[in-house]
Amino acid sequence: MKIIHTVAGLRAELAAHPAAPAFVPTMGNLHDGHLALIKQAREIVAGSGSPVVASIFVNRLQFGPNEDFDTYPRTLERDAELLAQAGCDVLFAPSEAELYPQPQGYKVVPPTELADILEGAFRPGFFTGVCTVVHKLFNLVQPRVAVFGKKDYQQLMVIRNMVIQMGLPIDIRGGETLRADDGLALSSRNGYLSADERAEAVQLSVVLRSVKDKVAAARASSALTQASIATMEAQAQAALDARGWKTDYIMVRRQRDLLPATDAELAQGEPLVGVAASRLGKTRLIDNLEF
Ligand code: PAF
Repeated sequence: MKIIHTVAGLRAELAAHPAAPAFVPTMGNLHDGHLALIKQAREIVAGSGSPVVASIFVNRLQFGPNEDFDTYPRTLERDAELLAQAGCDVLFAPSEAELYPQPQGYKVVPPTELADILEGAFRPGFFTGVCTVVHKLFNLVQPRVAVFGKKDYQQLMVIRNMVIQMGLPIDIRGGETLRADDGLALSSRNGYLSADERAEAVQLSVVLRSVKDKVAAARASSALTQASIATMEAQAQAALDARGWKTDYIMVRRQRDLLPATDAELAQGEPLVGVAASRLGKTRLIDNLEF
C-alpha cells in the first residue's frame, strides 16, 4: 500500500492506475467497521483495475468549538497497517496545511431540511463541514464509487443528495454497521468510554431494538401512527435518561430523507429507521436501526 501525504503525490499515483478508484474517506483511528468498508470497496472493484483509496483526515471544519477535535485519536501508523491488511491500495493522509492551504472560504452548504435536523440540530455546521471536505476529497480522488458507513445514517443520506444535486459521477454505497458481541455499534469514540461506561453503552442499541419491536407489533395490528411513534420515542428517551444518559434525540423517521412519516405512509409500510444520539458521561454516541 502506498502512503501519500500530498495532493501532487496523490494525482501522480492515481494517474498510474488504469481505472478510477473506489474511495473510503475516514478520520482514522480505524476499527473493524472501517475495515469492512475497505473490503466492500475491494469487492465492488474486483478485477476492474480500479484501486481502493482510503483517506485519513481529521476535519476541523466539522467539529464544533466544544467538541473533540483536539483529542480525537490520531493513530496513523496502526491505521496504515490495518488498511494494508484489509486490501487498501492507496492511503491519502494529508496534513491540514496540505488540504486547507488557505482558510476554506468556499463551503458546500447542504439544504436545511436534510442537514439541520437530528445531528445537525445538535451539531450546528457539522454537515457543512462534512460536505465541504467530502466534496473536496471527491475532487482530489475522483472516485467512481465511494463507501460510507450506515452508522452515520444522516451523513450517508446528506452525501447521497449532494452527489445527486451537484451532478458528481460517483456511486455512493452504504456499508452495514458492525457491532461488538453485546450489540454496541463500533465507533472510534467508544475508546473514550471507561469500563463501567462501556458496559452501559450497549443500552443505546437495546433501546433502539425495543423501539423496533414495538413498531413491528404496532404494524402487525395496523396501529402504527404518528401518535404511537411519538409515545415510543418519549418512552425510549425516558428509559435511557433514567439510567443516567443525556439524550439529544431518539426518533423514528423515514429511511429515505429522515423526515417523519405521515399516518398514510405508516399504514402503507413506509421503510423506517430509528436514529439516536445520547451522551454517556463525556462521550456522545450515535446509533440507528432500520425497520
Ligand atoms: O465519517 C467520517 O469519518 C467523516 O465524517 C468523513 C466522512 C471522513 C468526513 O470527514
